[in-house]
Amino acid sequence: MAIKGLAALALLSAIHGHQPASPDQPPNLTTWICTSSGGCVAQDTSIVLEWESRVIHETDSPTPCLSTNVINSTICPDPVTCAQNCVVEAANYTHSGVSTAGDTLTLQQYVHENGQPQPASPRVFLLGPDFQYLE
Ligand SMILES: *[C@@H]1O[C@H](CO)[C@@H](O)[C@H](O)[C@H]1NC(C)=O
Ligand SMILES: *[C@@H]1O[C@H](CO)[C@@H](O)[C@H](O)[C@H]1NC(C)=O
Ligand SMILES: *[C@@H]1O[C@H](CO)[C@@H](O)[C@H](O)[C@H]1NC(C)=O
Repeated sequence: MAIKGLAALALLSAIHGHQPASPDQPPNLTTWICTSSGGCVAQDTSIVLEWESRVIHETDSPTPCLSTNVINSTICPDPVTCAQNCVVEAANYTHSGVSTAGDTLTLQQYVHENGQPQPASPRVFLLGPDFQYLE
């Protein structure tokens, strides 16, 4: 348990240490801040998927650096080497069952791919106009 937590922590710092393969594109969502004095005011926010939804693979091959939360210790013997050897792909929001339209957010439990239902069950966070997490 402690080792798993430590490994996850090391990987997280490794992920933070390098550039993504392509920029993530969080879907835009209009949200509303409502107060009794000011009424409701629209704000430009966006929806970001948790980091587990991203494919992390070796820089020059599709070999995953992490599969089902197990870190490949050949590619990732330590956080610094891991950051050099791995890239993070942008999240695919459609594949993960996340879509927005105006002020409507849709999260799908399953998505249809190749005519088959596939589990999606996305977990998302709300980003403010400055792309920082909103609580
Ligand atoms: C969100 O809105 C901004 C500003 O209008 C735009 O540049 C960006 O492409 C939009 N993002 C997506 C994922 O559509
Ligand atoms: C770990 O990475 C090495 C180097 O790319 C690769 O040869 C090996 O197959 C990987 N192991 C697993 C379990 O994916
Ligand atoms: C994202 O996922 C959808 C559905 O699975 C797929 O059609 C699309 O090609 C993917 N986009 C990218 C950039 O991989």
